[in-house]
Amino acid sequence: MSDTTRKPTSAKKSSPRKTAAKRTSVSATTTEAAVPTAVAVAQTVAAAAPVRPTPSVAPAAQSNAALLARREAAVARGVASAAPIFAARAENAELWDVEGHRYIDFAGGIAVLNTGHRHPDVIAAAKTQEDLYTHTSFQVVPYEPYVALAEKLNALAPGDFAKKSLLVTTGAEAVENAVKIARAATGRPGIIAFSGSYHGRTLMTLGLTGKVAPYKKDVGPFPADIFRAPFPDARAGITVADALHGLETLFLTDADPSRVAAIILEPVLGEGGYHPVPAEMWHALREICDKHGILLISDEIQAGFGRTGTWFAVEHSGVAPDLITVAKSMAGGYPIAGVVGRAEVMDALAPGGLGGTYGGNPVACAAALAAIDAIAAEGLLARSTTLGETMRARLAEMGARTAPFRMWDIRGLGAMLAVEFVTDFDSATPDTGFTKSVIGHALRRGLILLACGMHGNAIRIMVPLTASDAIIEEGMQLFEAALADAVAERMATAAE
Ligand SMILES: Cc1ncc(COP(=O)(O)O)c(C=O)c1O
Repeated sequence: MSDTTRKPTSAKKSSPRKTAAKRTSVSATTTEAAVPTAVAVAQTVAAAAPVRPTPSVAPAAQSNAALLARREAAVARGVASAAPIFAARAENAELWDVEGHRYIDFAGGIAVLNTGHRHPDVIAAAKTQEDLYTHTSFQVVPYEPYVALAEKLNALAPGDFAKKSLLVTTGAEAVENAVKIARAATGRPGIIAFSGSYHGRTLMTLGLTGKVAPYKKDVGPFPADIFRAPFPDARAGITVADALHGLETLFLTDADPSRVAAIILEPVLGEGGYHPVPAEMWHALREICDKHGILLISDEIQAGFGRTGTWFAVEHSGVAPDLITVAKSMAGGYPIAGVVGRAEVMDALAPGGLGGTYGGNPVACAAALAAIDAIAAEGLLARSTTLGETMRARLAEMGARTAPFRMWDIRGLGAMLAVEFVTDFDSATPDTGFTKSVIGHALRRGLILLACGMHGNAIRIMVPLTASDAIIEEGMQLFEAALADAVAERMATAAE
């Protein structure tokens, strides 16, 4: 698909910045001797790229600085924000702050916006639903959109078996419920999760999460019967065989497999750095689970709904998990999440054992049904694949040209991509400072980026799949300019 889709409406007319960075034509190189050239290229790229100009719109009614001050005084410190700006409005892959500055959004509200900000069909469906009723609580008076969304999830999820679904509100709640369902279905307590994983911020999901800072600091203890296995990260020297050996060792040392209810993993580690689970690992886990009567859970909260080129990222492996957790891009910006899985497993809890006052809110259900339809109608699965290929090639090119020996890895699945930065290719030391610098310069130039990885030294791309080719290219040019800024800054510091 070429230039997908919808044009921003009112967003366009007050866009304060139309410029695009000029591409340099220096050829790519990765040799040590080329570094001085790379520095020169970095300076050229940085000079040629646009810095966000003063907005041409009328003076802002609010300033980012004033709102930041209010935020600091009123909002708990633990709620961090990656960007020190405040949103005024957004459309597809663009966002404007309260001062009128325009940004290209490569973060998508943390992988929520595969169909973009305010997809017209999603907004229309939500508005139609709002005119009927906004809340009854499904547990008091049920409604059709909940049932329709459950039917849709049952039909989309992989696996040639009967399925049922539960709807809740947040990703963490979906994971919590998947654990409850797995425990009730198996009569076993144990749950195995992986190093580097992220499953949420509630106490059970924090227990499952395999990354301490900042999530798990100061808030334990976490629930019992959670065990950790090593994630297969080839780049860190952990092969699939190593990871499976770790799991088998865990069965011998701590987690009696006959007492394990489920193994949960993200098909692509999200917060952990966008490492895809190799297909071989999925197949081995399926076999291990079948052997021991353990349920296999794919946490698709970040990777699902087209992000990787399939409805669910686990589909790339051909393995059908027993349960799948979903959220984020399922509803194009509305808070809803769920668990879909084997009907007999999903039915393990007695009536009243699952639910919540707001679970499966009707407006969010309507939005989700529209977002899912849009993903299908606009060919966004195929778009994710081609977009992933284009962005991968562009990132490789800019890494070689502008920051040789820093862009250590470009990885992911489909359009779920991350680039990892190191101080140099020999030591491959994670360079968190450099990564932060790229993100800071990108924001200054008008591009929203988000970090990930165990050391915060990777940048993940979660741009709407509905973004036009022109917006993607503009974002890529800003990315390269920010990269050049960070290289120049590092060189200047080194020279002092
Ligand atoms: C894989 C995964 N699981 C669970 C969650 C938790 O979702 P939420 O933030 O909606 O609770 C996230 C959120 O980023 C996630 O990426």
